[in-house]
Amino acid sequence: MRIHNIVNWAIALMPKVTTAFLPPPASDAVLQNNITWDNQSFFINGERQLLLSGEFHPWRLPVPSLWLDIFQKIKALGFSATSFYVHWALLESEPSVYRADGIFDLVPFFEAAAEAGIYLLVRPGPYIQAESFGGGFPGWIARTNGTLRSNDSGFLDSFHTYYSNTTSLIAKYQISNGGPVILLQPENEYTGSNNEFEPSYMQYIMDEARSNGIVVPFLSNDPGPYGHNAPESGVGAVDVYGHDYYPLGFSCSNPDNWTSFELPTDFYQTHESQSPTTPYSLVEFQGGSMDSWGGPGFDNCAQMVGAEAERMWYKNNVAAGVSFFSIYMIYGGTNWGNVGYPSGYTSYDYGAAITESRTVDRDKYSELKLLGNFLKVSPTYLDVQPFNSSVTMAITSDISVSPLLGLSTNSSFWVVRHTDYTSSDDTSYTMPIQTSNGTVTIPQLGGVLSLLGRDSKILVTDYPLGNINLLYSTAELFTWKQFGDYIVVVLYGEIGEHEELAIGLSNPDITVLEGDSSSVQHQYTGNQTILAWDITSSRLVVRVGDVYLFLLDRTSAYNFWVPQLITSETTHNYTSNATIASSIIVNAGYLVRTARLQGNDLYLEADFNATTTVEIFGAPENAKNLYINGRGQNFTKDSHGFWSTSAIFETPQFTLPDLTKLTWHSIDSLPELQASYNDSDWVDASLTFTANVDYKLSTPTSLFSSDYGYHVGFLLYRGSFTANGQETQLNLTTQGGGVFETAVWINDTFIGIEEGSREPRGILDYSLDGGHSQSDISWKLTGNLGGEQYVDLTRGPLNEGGLYAERQGLHLPYPDVNDSTYGWGSSTPFQGIDSAGVGFWTARLPLDLPSGYDIPLSFQFDQGTLSGAEYCAQLYVNGFQFGKYAPSYGPQTEFPVPQGILNYNGDNWLAISVFSYNSSGASVSSLQLVNNTIATSPIQVDLTNQPAYTKRANAY
Ligand SMILES: *[C@@H]1O[C@H](CO)[C@@H](O)[C@H](O)[C@H]1NC(C)=O
Ligand SMILES: *[C@@H]1O[C@H](CO)[C@@H](O)[C@H](O)[C@H]1NC(C)=O
Ligand SMILES: *[C@@H]1O[C@H](CO)[C@@H](O)[C@H](O)[C@H]1NC(C)=O
Ligand SMILES: *[C@@H]1O[C@H](CO)[C@@H](O)[C@H](O)[C@H]1NC(C)=O
Repeated sequence: MRIHNIVNWAIALMPKVTTAFLPPPASDAVLQNNITWDNQSFFINGERQLLLSGEFHPWRLPVPSLWLDIFQKIKALGFSATSFYVHWALLESEPSVYRADGIFDLVPFFEAAAEAGIYLLVRPGPYIQAESFGGGFPGWIARTNGTLRSNDSGFLDSFHTYYSNTTSLIAKYQISNGGPVILLQPENEYTGSNNEFEPSYMQYIMDEARSNGIVVPFLSNDPGPYGHNAPESGVGAVDVYGHDYYPLGFSCSNPDNWTSFELPTDFYQTHESQSPTTPYSLVEFQGGSMDSWGGPGFDNCAQMVGAEAERMWYKNNVAAGVSFFSIYMIYGGTNWGNVGYPSGYTSYDYGAAITESRTVDRDKYSELKLLGNFLKVSPTYLDVQPFNSSVTMAITSDISVSPLLGLSTNSSFWVVRHTDYTSSDDTSYTMPIQTSNGTVTIPQLGGVLSLLGRDSKILVTDYPLGNINLLYSTAELFTWKQFGDYIVVVLYGEIGEHEELAIGLSNPDITVLEGDSSSVQHQYTGNQTILAWDITSSRLVVRVGDVYLFLLDRTSAYNFWVPQLITSETTHNYTSNATIASSIIVNAGYLVRTARLQGNDLYLEADFNATTTVEIFGAPENAKNLYINGRGQNFTKDSHGFWSTSAIFETPQFTLPDLTKLTWHSIDSLPELQASYNDSDWVDASLTFTANVDYKLSTPTSLFSSDYGYHVGFLLYRGSFTANGQETQLNLTTQGGGVFETAVWINDTFIGIEEGSREPRGILDYSLDGGHSQSDISWKLTGNLGGEQYVDLTRGPLNEGGLYAERQGLHLPYPDVNDSTYGWGSSTPFQGIDSAGVGFWTARLPLDLPSGYDIPLSFQFDQGTLSGAEYCAQLYVNGFQFGKYAPSYGPQTEFPVPQGILNYNGDNWLAISVFSYNSSGASVSSLQLVNNTIATSPIQVDLTNQPAYTKRANAY
């Protein structure tokens, strides 16, 4: 009698009070690192810089040619930086063998960042967490001796190969060598109360990085600002203290309920008490949320941390004087090929500003763009004294204001919100505000200001627009530019609000160029001109002297972009005073990526999801011709020098294949149930000890898979014993991670399933009655072919699990469907299998999609509604595992697969495994290829290397 036990661990894995504004630091420091800091901000090459950043993991988008796309979408937010983790397990899954080629090579990531003009904060761990496989640790870490993340030599030695290779590569791409890397974060969330902080371990990592050539500053990432127990100097001290914060929590099931959350109002004071000499750094701030099996799904997370939450919390961070501000995640991506942790499902969309399908159609993207671009053009923001405690200035106590008062200038910022930040009320107010003209109560020309629902605003006073002073504005500023002898200012508010501004111009000509002139009130008072207007859906353009004011509603402002203008003199596209000054303003709908001036030709790269009017403000004098995505464009130029044209969107004509009509080839992927199955190549579970120092064995030999080098995906166990006829009961205790299923067969009879959680993985304990001792059962096991000596070097160490079809490589393109070894049939996944077990299907999937578009595709199961069926499907596209669908858990039904994994003009191979743990079997009731938001686009996507099937000599 044999016992077959299949642990689906695929489901498991699928399953300041500043006394003074400090001058720029001594040039020696700048020369040394090109990046330094004072208590207000970082400096890059001597220039004070605000760093707005977002987290994006290259390993969650395994198409290097798409990295530029994400960086450009981050840059378009007005951001200047990206932070990212490096994942150790993907680079050194086989101990002492470091592989960082193809999709795992970081060089194209550095190059794409540099091309987009994005600075990088690198976070190479060794521990990263990141809701990722092993938290970044390779599976074999279970066999190392010594406490993880400590100074034990067993642990320190374990990461040397990874860390030295990685940091020496990073060193080459530092800003000091002309690269994008400006900061490095050693370890991750290490100083929290849950960790015994070992200064010497932290120092060891930093010394190791320095010895490999890292010269940029070290930034920490404390888990929250409180209970900070890292040293401020000496052994283990980083250069700049930073922390993370997730004030909205991680449950997206009640996205509009802010009652249980928190709006911290002591960040600035905490920073001043903890790290007064460094810039206030929020190294991770909530940009969405993780979600787990059975969770409410990422659209809910996007709603929870949506445009309203961004306004409330991010502006509150501005009120605290943040000057390094990174959002986790800005683009989440995909837990393809088991890169996620057991509790997470395939999507790692995170509800982020940029969706998993790389689209930018969430309002939260546009809202972030308003804030990012405003801060980018507001250098005086880095010259303020924050208080962060809100004060009651408005005439109603329902409104609170956090002032940021100018230090060396009068330029100040006033962050306004409801006192009860959860309030959805519409609240009217007036308020006295300090200006260089004395305290004025705004609005001065009558009427009231309002906060409509959940909103927070940044009002400015004495804001410099070049040489002109904006005394105050109640409308929020999106951007402004000086173009030769005129200035363009873009302001916005919510429809229904009344706004007012005062500008330091005496008796200028005022012309309403667009909109109803009676809707703009004005008054000249001394050296000031006051304008008042109501926000409606029709825009107002008012010329006041040489200042053009674009007075927009929020949604119209969402369509504005401020690309830095690249010229023949531009040596890079990083954000600096010069690149900010040379930017142009474009009103163009969906996305504007870049603007480039070459001779008399102005080139825009932009994406359009609809036919759109394109307006260009501030086109350089010598620009005569316009090209959008390389195509010459007729345009008109008005008397003010503003250009206008139309970008035509034509819906692309294409048909996505009907997946039920593909020619499917099928095999049974659980031949291990057959009496004739030969398991002689399987590993004997014969180790009488476990190398896992954290656990004791309850079994005569270890059945922990990591002791045998199997860490990922499906695990199979076969136990055999000689029956005496007295057996009635077998007890098994198994573990596979957060969510997993264990199916048990005796001989080929399906016995049932088990559920559980926690590491290590495999069989933890068992007993058999009938007078048997544990040692009567001898066990064999397998996981992925080769274990740590994984076979598919291109797709990496985590992509394959232990299913028969995976071990044989049949999930790869062009499997040999004539090889009789496999007993190919012609059933389809829609027919499925009729008993508990594992079915496997593969089919050629030709695609022919038009070029010039970005057409994000997804595989959608069950038309988007969980069927509840008891199975787990794995989806493979050209050999990459890009989905785990568990219709009884959910929530994910739609699985985006990027172009580059999919060949849009040629043959693809689609494969599906179905593990049914129900005795009556399972089938896929519906699977469709669907598209997301389509845009005309200049992106160029290269097909990743995707080696085809070849017979695996050693496969069993
Ligand atoms: C990089 O890893 C290889 C192993 O693949 C190792 O031999 C080599 O010494 C490492 N290089 C550095 C700089 O640590
Ligand atoms: C782990 O290291 C400790 C301290 O060096 C040593 O006493 C112990 O025997 C080691 N354990 C194993 C399993 O090697
Ligand atoms: C680094 O700083 C030096 C000295 O200021 C400067 O010459 C060099 O251009 C800077 N490097 C980069 C990449 O900005
Ligand atoms: C919001 O959440 C809090 C805390 O969980 C709870 O007490 C409150 O009832 C919730 N409010 C609504 C309207 O669901």
